[in-house]
Amino acid sequence: MGENAKKTFYITTPIYYVNDVPHIGHAYTTIIADTAARFKKMMGYDVFFLTGTDEHGQKIEKAAAARGIQPLELADRMVIRFKDLWKALNIDYDGFIRTTQPHHEQVVQALFRKLKDRGDIYRGSYEGYYCVSDENFLSADVPLEDGGFKICPDCGKQAGQVSEECYFFRLSAYQQRLLDFYAENPTFVRPQSRMNEITSFVRQGLRDLSITRSTVRWGVAIPDDPDHTVYVWFDALHNYLSGIGFGSNDALYRKFWPANVHLIGKDILRFHAVYWPAFLMASGFSLPECVFGHGWWLKDKSKMSKSKGNVLDPHLILDTFGTDPLRYFLLREIPVGLDGNFSHEGFIHRVNSDLANDLGNLVQRVLTMIRSYFSGRISEIGEATGEDQELNTKFLEHRDRIIEHYDDLAINRALEDLWGYINTVNRYLADNEPWKKAKQAGARARLGRILYQAAAAIRTIACLVYPVMPESADKIWHFLGEGTSPGETVLAHLAFDDLETGVEFLKPDQLFPRVDLKDFLKEKPVETPAGKQKKEGEMEQITFDEFKRMDLRVAEILQAERVEGTNKLIKMKIDIGDETRQMIAGIADTYAPEDLTGKKLIVIVNLKPAVIRGIESQAMLLAAVKPDDSAIVPFFSEDVPTGAPVK
Ligand code: ME8
Ligand code: MG
Repeated sequence: MGENAKKTFYITTPIYYVNDVPHIGHAYTTIIADTAARFKKMMGYDVFFLTGTDEHGQKIEKAAAARGIQPLELADRMVIRFKDLWKALNIDYDGFIRTTQPHHEQVVQALFRKLKDRGDIYRGSYEGYYCVSDENFLSADVPLEDGGFKICPDCGKQAGQVSEECYFFRLSAYQQRLLDFYAENPTFVRPQSRMNEITSFVRQGLRDLSITRSTVRWGVAIPDDPDHTVYVWFDALHNYLSGIGFGSNDALYRKFWPANVHLIGKDILRFHAVYWPAFLMASGFSLPECVFGHGWWLKDKSKMSKSKGNVLDPHLILDTFGTDPLRYFLLREIPVGLDGNFSHEGFIHRVNSDLANDLGNLVQRVLTMIRSYFSGRISEIGEATGEDQELNTKFLEHRDRIIEHYDDLAINRALEDLWGYINTVNRYLADNEPWKKAKQAGARARLGRILYQAAAAIRTIACLVYPVMPESADKIWHFLGEGTSPGETVLAHLAFDDLETGVEFLKPDQLFPRVDLKDFLKEKPVETPAGKQKKEGEMEQITFDEFKRMDLRVAEILQAERVEGTNKLIKMKIDIGDETRQMIAGIADTYAPEDLTGKKLIVIVNLKPAVIRGIESQAMLLAAVKPDDSAIVPFFSEDVPTGAPVK
């Protein structure tokens, strides 16, 4: 490596199963990794951020069969859904690995063969219980239930009996080497509590691990033994090597391996903190620096998971708020190591108070004052007073602490500290009252200084918030007349006087609109007269007069286009008989805008207009909503006059 070689940082997410569409939990891990990657780039590192999909195994085989399609077809479809979500969330990954890619399969086969040649893999047979949902062999001490099955202690689902020929990996031989490794690398597993958990698990003794399946066809073929496929976890874990070029791009691999952080949820800690280092030791690789097991997002006190059916669709939130409020909330609300309960109330409260009030208002007020008192260009800037210097000192203290927190993956603390700084700037304005100085004779240079200080502070805030909210940070810089992105700055050198004088500041758009909880919650629980809550989906009876209050009509779509920056929304111009209206609807999952023009459908025209992503919707269409939240619109196939009443 040359003298000027940059420090490298390699971070990974789990590769997600393609049995279903992604939810908030998957988004969470990927957002943390994106934030860490952006932060490290701003610290001058050469960063590689890998994510991807786990496409083999019994779980995917089953999910595809249930849909009547081939596993690869299911994978292809789901990969699109994952990539769409990452795009909507502004996830800037460097590599996306799919375990069905030939170069990955070859790595798995080559390392399988190597372990076999070294005597770490031997033939045998497995008798026991297997949880398909977790793709996990249950330990023998899990009790048998009456029906002849076991309950998976991790996910609570039924695990069936398996009896098959297989190859074993000699995991038991690695017990002491693993314990020695943990002792020498006490931060290998983070947070610390999980390191302790793993150490005591390994101390209790390790059994050899079955690493092939002879009853599963959908998997990597075993070299020289067509009756077996590779156990999906042996396959999946090696993505961290194949995804960084091992076996296909040697320069890349050598530059970035070993990984600095494998970011995962605590559900899959054992695979990453015990099996993975053992596989790597056996095949002679250097070991990753850290496995970080974060907490879970819960809904109604239980882990959000596809198999429980209590997941939240991130698109619902993204379509209303855009990306940054969701990124901010997930990272601000809980420390990376702990669990958190997702509630819409909590979300809206944070967005309104931290984003709309504290940060949004600060930017809006300062830039509006600069526009109205100086036409956008601060032309006179007086000497800095003690108070101004104090603001600068506070900034430097916050900057250094925030960097430390980010570096420690204590993202919630970085944000907490940053908001302390935002409040300091808000207090500085309240104390210095620029709005009063604007009316005082002879105070113009002082006014210019106060507003310069505030704008310089806002500029640094944009840089410090960039890893979490890149889109909003970019917008703030744009308002400040900057031509580049705050992501291109070096955080450690960030300074107040980086703000050039004489630049024209623009009129700011609103960064974060305030949202009313009632407007957001489409499905509030209905109160019955007795005060009892109704079951979800069960509705009250209404009278015919109540029904008649709805003005339902035949409308014709004149124009349709996708709303920029959203995945679901289409903006339409519709003719409702006596006028044309603008309507927004979340149907882009199912329909392409160009297929909509000329179509006739039913809309309600006297519903109060709603503002969606800043655009007014003056009518609402009727559509069937499928369980995956996609919409099917009933269009008329007969010829009906536009504007005809529907009753
Ligand atoms: O386990 N809260 O894939 P998976 C927080 N393919 N994070 C959550 C979450 C929740 N409620 N639910 C899921 C697999 N996650 C394997 C991984 S890696 C070599 C193979 C996140 O689709 C969290 O990161 O079940 C968790 O570890 C991961 O999604 C599991 O995703
Ligand atoms: Mg899972």
